[in-house]
Amino acid sequence: MRAKVSIVGAGMTGSTTAHWLAEREIADIVLVDVVEGMPQGKALDLLEAMPVIGKDVNVVGSNDFEATAASDIIIITAGLPRKPGMSRDDLLAANATIVREATEKTIRRSPDAIYVVLTNPLDAMAYLTMRVSKLPPQRVVGQAGILDAARMRAFVAMDLGVSVENVHCYVLGGHGDEMVPLTRHSNVAGIPLVDILPPDRLAAIVERTRKGGGEIVSLLKTGSAYYAPAIAVTQMVDAILRDKHLVVNASAYLQGEYGLHGIYFGVPAKLGREGVEKVIEYRLNEEELAAFRKSASGVAENNAKLNI
Ligand SMILES: NC(=O)c1ccc[n+]([C@@H]2O[C@H](COP(=O)([O-])OP(=O)(O)OC[C@H]3O[C@@H](n4cnc5c(N)ncnc54)[C@H](O)[C@@H]3O)[C@@H](O)[C@H]2O)c1
Repeated sequence: MRAKVSIVGAGMTGSTTAHWLAEREIADIVLVDVVEGMPQGKALDLLEAMPVIGKDVNVVGSNDFEATAASDIIIITAGLPRKPGMSRDDLLAANATIVREATEKTIRRSPDAIYVVLTNPLDAMAYLTMRVSKLPPQRVVGQAGILDAARMRAFVAMDLGVSVENVHCYVLGGHGDEMVPLTRHSNVAGIPLVDILPPDRLAAIVERTRKGGGEIVSLLKTGSAYYAPAIAVTQMVDAILRDKHLVVNASAYLQGEYGLHGIYFGVPAKLGREGVEKVIEYRLNEEELAAFRKSASGVAENNAKLNI
């Protein structure tokens, strides 16, 4: 039997995730949204694309959470995206109400699911999902690091004129402007970035990575990025369903790793059929640890505002 993945929030990131997932033929897909007819219409349209690419997946859209029953994975993309000039943190109050409701309505229908959270502010929403669902922390994970690293990889590849496949970047910390691109560990075909790029060009890439989401928001004006976020979620779902034990940058619950406790935070995490199997710890220097602590304090402040 094919796995079942339900996506709550059939907006730009939700529907694009459904598209990438269907293309990989790894699960039947349910799209749920509050807007009447929209998830049904998008699901039918996507279903009708399947004969052309020869993929046998079922795609269903609904306004009723009952359609999500017995899902293996629940993806939460419901909520408001940023508008120009907004930070992700500005979304906290409105999206907390939406994510809480989405979690309550899905967990009772899929008590064994693994949650992949996308809604911003990401680390706080992953924390909220874990607390509301009462799932063990390894069954709730947030997407941020694959996207942030992909942005950095794209910028490095453009700067150096090399294939994106040769560029490996690691972007950790909270999913906000204080994220921590690890330039010492990031490399091109094994050569550390610090040894290839002059400091000013590297600093510009780090800055553009940190502001990568905002750059797209200011161009689109009416929404935020969705192609790259959606393929990042797809990679996580793929790793979980195929039990790949794939180490990716993701927002995972920390219980002492990196000296941090009780927050969701961007770290290298090993993903498999049980969710987050392990948080990997890099040996960081003092400067990197200081950046981690600064980023973590912002995440903890958001969690405190959730009052849970
Ligand atoms: N973590 C990341 O890397 C990342 C990347 C991109 C977007 N995001 C975040 O993901 C969220 C969604 O972004 P988007 O671009 O898809 O926005 P969008 O506006 O296109 O879609 C959001 C959808 O959620 C739906 N929705 C609202 N309340 C709901 C509810 N209670 N139940 C079900 N559906 C509900 C809306 O009707 C809408 O269709 C935003 O918070 C955005 O900031 C995060």
